[in-house]
Amino acid sequence: MEKRKVTIPQFKEMKQQGKKIKMVTAYDYLLASVIDKSSIEAILVGDSLGMVVLGYDSTVTVTMDEMLHHVKPVVRGAPNTLIVADMPFGSYNVSISEAIGNANRMMKEGRADCVKLEGGNGVADTVRAIVNAGIPVMGHIGLTPQTVSQLGGFKVQGKDEEAALKLLEDAYKLEEAGVFAIVVECVPAPVAKLISEKLSIPIIGIGAGSHCDGQVLVAQDMLGMFDRFVPKFVKQYANLNGLIMEALQTYAIEVDGGEFPGPEHSFGMKEEVLKKLY
Ligand code: KIV
Repeated sequence: MEKRKVTIPQFKEMKQQGKKIKMVTAYDYLLASVIDKSSIEAILVGDSLGMVVLGYDSTVTVTMDEMLHHVKPVVRGAPNTLIVADMPFGSYNVSISEAIGNANRMMKEGRADCVKLEGGNGVADTVRAIVNAGIPVMGHIGLTPQTVSQLGGFKVQGKDEEAALKLLEDAYKLEEAGVFAIVVECVPAPVAKLISEKLSIPIIGIGAGSHCDGQVLVAQDMLGMFDRFVPKFVKQYANLNGLIMEALQTYAIEVDGGEFPGPEHSFGMKEEVLKKLY
């Protein structure tokens, strides 16, 4: 059956229907067009772009222009997949009007379907304003990489009663503010289960156990492309890094040994023309 882009209402209905939502990241046309042919409903152009593609040591330095540069090819490559554009650090924490302006850029210039931003109760007013401006918003709580220094590092969040209840409260506040779904990152599975059961909107987990309404992974992690560090919650479904390395080394050996290019990869010319050249 031909794949059709899920709408925001359909995305929410999937929770009621007990259908799991699948999302992965992409930052370029090529991978986006492969994902578009799969049964994955959504692509997140995450600000993980900074660490995975741009070589930064955190997501904090990623700019709006860098995000847009990558949102655009992903949108072109995946016309049948819901595209979520991550709002980078600094694009929604200065003022509500700047946040709406930047969310507008993601929609108008990037042609994304919706935006995602990090934070709980503290960003609820900003979320409400963006939603009121007509832009669907996905929330993101738990381990929020943009504010990782405030959280004390890349640590599992919501481990004690107070922290777990704060996460639940943040989720309620975001739901009230109008988000259509929430990413919950790196929290104990029972806490994510509780949040998923209490809220009526889909909860999309990453490092949050199997009871969430959907899952998201960084595609480069699950494909084994980004091998610098493999978080505990990542399952590697392929080892593309190994395959790429093997192909590169074989190419180097064959060029050194004169095996590549062979006649089948080369262009000939008429004998009489060739004779005139000598
Ligand atoms: O930027 C990103 O890739 C993300 C996911 C980890 C959810 O926010």
